[in-house]
Amino acid sequence: MTSRASGGFKEEVKQAWAGKLPERYGLAEASFLDLVSPSLTPGCRILDVGAGRTPVLAPEARPVGCEYVGLDIARSELEGAPAGSYDSFVVGDITKPTPELEGRFDLVLSLQLLEHVKSLDDSLNNIYSYLRPGGRFLGQLSGRFSFFALAGRVIPIGASRAILKWAQHRDPASVFPAHYHHCWASAIRKITPQWSRVDVIPIWGGNAYLTRSRALLALNTAYEHWGMAGNHDNLATHYIIDARR
Ligand SMILES: C[S@@+](CC[C@H](N)C(=O)[O-])C[C@H]1O[C@@H](n2cnc3c(N)ncnc32)[C@H](O)[C@@H]1O
Repeated sequence: MTSRASGGFKEEVKQAWAGKLPERYGLAEASFLDLVSPSLTPGCRILDVGAGRTPVLAPEARPVGCEYVGLDIARSELEGAPAGSYDSFVVGDITKPTPELEGRFDLVLSLQLLEHVKSLDDSLNNIYSYLRPGGRFLGQLSGRFSFFALAGRVIPIGASRAILKWAQHRDPASVFPAHYHHCWASAIRKITPQWSRVDVIPIWGGNAYLTRSRALLALNTAYEHWGMAGNHDNLATHYIIDARR
């Protein structure tokens, strides 16, 4: 899994110094969709929360007869998605209940949404209520104690947008304010007692922000190696939550 180092400490740091991302970074990109795929059964009903302009599953990746609903707080984001992205969409705030969604879905997905909400507890409670009994939630979010989250909490959003445009060629319109409420492993486990099963998978992926500096890449690779080897899960840069109602 992506929370494991792909090579020895020296080997990974040496590669980073040469400007290469550790091998496990390639695995990280695939892992979320790999986890989703066993739940893609014909006719399944999927809710994509914080779906915005980019649904987690492109229309061609969906199973036959699937109903795919997008939910986002911003109508403009949903309307900015390519035509055919959603069978229908709901403009709504995941921290507030939407009673008409209750018990409707086999699978709820969210990619890089939950660090943006003011209450992770309320968001997860609402997601729970939108699932049918036995339904599954798979979400990926950024961690509160990652260096970029710590920096993002002191740097104004305008400056963050400029830095990410420079460091990652990110479109400034794709950078949203983040709160990181309860976004660390032990907090997530603590606030999800009603779920029948919860796996919180730590991901160490901070190097994607540092590709412009080989020294920072090497330093961060050493730090991530330490974090993974010591199971310092609360410090991970990202998490996947895989939970069953
Ligand atoms: C970083 S974008 C991720 C979009 C998409 N999931 C992706 O991976 O490209 C975060 C999205 O969450 C939405 N969002 C932020 N707060 C929200 C909330 N409280 N309820 C629902 N959506 C929210 C934003 O409008 C935005 O579309």
